Amino acid sequence: MILSIDQGTTGTTAFVFDGDGRLLGRSYSEFPQYYPRPGWVEHDASEIWQVTLQVCAAALQRAGIGASALAALGITNQRETVVLWDRKTGEPVHRAIVWQCRRSSEICAGLRSRGLEEGVREKTGLLLDPYFSASKLSWVFRENPELLQKAHTGEIAFGTVDSWLIWRLTGGQAHVTDHTNASRTLLYNLDKQQWDDELLAMFECPQAILPDIRPSAGLFATTDPDVFFGAQIPISGVAGDQQAALFGQGCTRPGSLKNTYGTGCFMLAIAGYRRPRIPEGLLATMACDQHGQPQYAIEGSVFNAGAAVQWLRDDLGVIPQASESEQIAFSIPDTRGVYLVPAFSGLGAPHWDADARGAVFGLTRGAGRAELVRATLESIAYQSHELADLMAQALGVDLQCLRVDGGASANNFLMQFQADISRLRVERPRQIESTAVGAALLAGIGAGIWVSEQLPESLQDIEQDFLPQMPEGQRQALLGGWCNAVAACRAYR
Ligand code: G3P
Repeated sequence: MILSIDQGTTGTTAFVFDGDGRLLGRSYSEFPQYYPRPGWVEHDASEIWQVTLQVCAAALQRAGIGASALAALGITNQRETVVLWDRKTGEPVHRAIVWQCRRSSEICAGLRSRGLEEGVREKTGLLLDPYFSASKLSWVFRENPELLQKAHTGEIAFGTVDSWLIWRLTGGQAHVTDHTNASRTLLYNLDKQQWDDELLAMFECPQAILPDIRPSAGLFATTDPDVFFGAQIPISGVAGDQQAALFGQGCTRPGSLKNTYGTGCFMLAIAGYRRPRIPEGLLATMACDQHGQPQYAIEGSVFNAGAAVQWLRDDLGVIPQASESEQIAFSIPDTRGVYLVPAFSGLGAPHWDADARGAVFGLTRGAGRAELVRATLESIAYQSHELADLMAQALGVDLQCLRVDGGASANNFLMQFQADISRLRVERPRQIESTAVGAALLAGIGAGIWVSEQLPESLQDIEQDFLPQMPEGQRQALLGGWCNAVAACRAYR
């Protein structure tokens, strides 16, 4: 049995799979989000740890097994989010600064104005954007000189959420991460595949805070029985959630591509063992290792996708549950010209506009709740379409098919609209939690339970595909309206 932990932006899920890939038990819980100022997003790392333990216990109970029946544990996580903790007490020394948080925009703008972006892009495959970890760390150290002091003396540790959870699961024995997570920090050199001293100096980050970097499949550490339900279990698979989903969808060959519909939308394609040259607007990053050697991936990231549906539910209160958006969107033929641009935390790929803010366009007196709900789902598909267009350029091929996963991929309206607007066959696997599947597969491979060439098929079956049906004229008109809405949203300051 393998326990797979998916620590996402808004909640943690634990899954128990057996050796044939059957799901035996699962548990999910959300945890608090903190928005102390406009554009700022924080988590309490202790709450993340507590909720993770709770869902592990509940998933094991639902599977009807004790922790000692586990052969391996895999972890996948929201990436880029910065956790800092005291090595002695194991307690966080600052709120976790979430990937969506824009507080370090000025730090990034300052570095850009010094002409440093090109060099950073060359080393990291990323951009000078507050999305990534490094400028968040700079911000913390500038605002809290006492923490910088402790960072220099090695009293505090930094990690993305994977490192934090491993630290806690091992009772402070291991301070490690994997290449996929490291490659999202802006402190990792993509060619050398290690931390980079020049980047550390640029972001004023002491080397002493960094975890060791390991391949995604292999032994990271073993759990401390005092912390983890009396059991000593190998943690043998770790990857950032989007790279885990890529692996979980069986995308291991160059050109294979997936889109995950979570809090944001993340489209990734395997580029192979050589570092890819990529068009403006996309990122180069690490994919999971195959046979101990990491591959590269190309990525496009949209910041707000499922988050926009949550906003409809939690802030506007126009839908009681996210899943109701499907039936509401199907109940009307179109949005009557309404567009929502959910730039709640700026716009990611391909626009990379940290200061853009969300907007609704095209309202007439006849537009109501249903139009807004449908426009929200459509916005997810439009944003993903922009990514697919760029990906096709990057890969130099005409895309035919898009493999999808993540919670919102269960929404049939969204999947059909995606197929229509992108003119692609959209393929949805039976198990849409590809992120957790990926972490389980990595853990199984890392512990020697499975080999890469013979993974359980049940984990990657296709459940349904969606074929494009929309007339081309209608598609072009809708895309034209979307482009105008994005332009107008970006023009507003
Ligand atoms: O890069 C951010 C990403 O890892 C967050 O994923 O699933 O929490 O939206 P998710």
